[in-house]
Amino acid sequence: MDFPAFPEGFVWGTSTAAYQIEGAVGESGRGPSIWDTFSHTPGRTAHGDTGDVACDHFHRYRDDIGLMTDLGVAAYRFSVAWPRIQPDGKGPANVEGLDFYQRLVDELGDAGITPFLTLYHWDLPQALEDAGGWRVRDTAERFAEYAAIVHSALADRVPMWTTLNEPFCSAFIGYSEGRHAPGATEGHGALAAAHHLLLGHGLAVKAMRAQQYGDEKFGITLNMAHVTPATDDPADVAAAQRSDLLQNRVFSDPILAGRWPSGEAELWSPISDFSFRKAGDLDIVHQPLDFLGLNNYAPTYAKNAPTVDGDVTFRVATDIGVVDNPPATLGRTAMGWPVEADGLRRLLVWLRDSYPQLPPVYITENGCAYVDTVVDGKVDDPERIAYFDSHLRAVRQAIDEDVDVRGYIAWSLMDNFEWGYGYTKRFGLVYVDYQTQQRIPKSSYYWYKKLVTRRGDSNEG
Ligand code: FCB
Repeated sequence: MDFPAFPEGFVWGTSTAAYQIEGAVGESGRGPSIWDTFSHTPGRTAHGDTGDVACDHFHRYRDDIGLMTDLGVAAYRFSVAWPRIQPDGKGPANVEGLDFYQRLVDELGDAGITPFLTLYHWDLPQALEDAGGWRVRDTAERFAEYAAIVHSALADRVPMWTTLNEPFCSAFIGYSEGRHAPGATEGHGALAAAHHLLLGHGLAVKAMRAQQYGDEKFGITLNMAHVTPATDDPADVAAAQRSDLLQNRVFSDPILAGRWPSGEAELWSPISDFSFRKAGDLDIVHQPLDFLGLNNYAPTYAKNAPTVDGDVTFRVATDIGVVDNPPATLGRTAMGWPVEADGLRRLLVWLRDSYPQLPPVYITENGCAYVDTVVDGKVDDPERIAYFDSHLRAVRQAIDEDVDVRGYIAWSLMDNFEWGYGYTKRFGLVYVDYQTQQRIPKSSYYWYKKLVTRRGDSNEG
């Protein structure tokens, strides 16, 4: 295979998330989450799709681990459904729910696959949303308690612990754009949600470290994008700074540098007094991390634009006067996202240059949706192969430029419930027929298999 070698010990994996694959929403004593409520609300998801059945992974997890064994990956990144562990968001562990994840990690252990566990991939127990959700401080405290429960049950078998997946999406798509659960469109509330997610992360890391079992590692997964001004017009340069603040620095500055990001008062003081911040919060958020999980799909080209709501006091938090305007020459995925692998290299270099305390980085998500069709029982997806190929070369180049990247975990093992898009977007290496639950490995799966199972000192296989 004509592909540059990766460093010894580089970790290859695949990724999923609980609500996107598990189904079995009424089993094991699981309580409802905000995604059950949201997806069952008419008009919220494509075709009214829900995660009720999804990939039925709750019952088929052994077969799915078999797919990973055949693929040859060393790591599996999955998330634990909080409402399976605490059906109403607080109190002692629901033993039946915990038992599912015990069986999952035991099976992974037997297969020699390292579990990368994410505690929160967006499925907040509905009872906590009813009490204010991430807008309120109490949710951050509840999250730390939940983290401690899962950690004490699984730390002996799970070495990699991630608190949150993409707090940007939870806070800003969930509470400002309203395209994700709980579907709110707020200004102050979304900023409060961002703060309490940060705080929940810090409290959870502290709680888990306090009961550290062995040498398990703690981190967070942020979705970030490299931002370029669409033109050199000063208005676009300023728009790029706003976009960088919203998409990246709201989370990365406090977590990785222990500072609140510059520019936030200018942007948001008309809609929020930031009264949710208490003395000492920054120190809690700024926990030393063993790794950063990085999710990236595309870069941003920021162009200045009018805000949607002219009245500043009614503006939602994401209404910051920026549109994404990537070069028309770039290809697009089925999500409409531009394809530019060098954006990932630039992001990695930017991270290294911006944060002297940057811990080792794992790419915890990267991938693409394309329209896949089954022909004669096979799915040929050359565009996905090209996407992975170019992005992996970009990662390799960043490593040459001295960015400490330790692993690559492709999104996703298999097609799944793509949030507001329901089942209309396929990101998997494995095709899922949702009528029969048949799994069909795509040609990208065989391509990835060849890459990850290369052996020998030159890594040429
Ligand atoms: C990320 C999510 C993941 C998946 C991909 C396509 O934002 O973390 O669950 O939906 O996008």
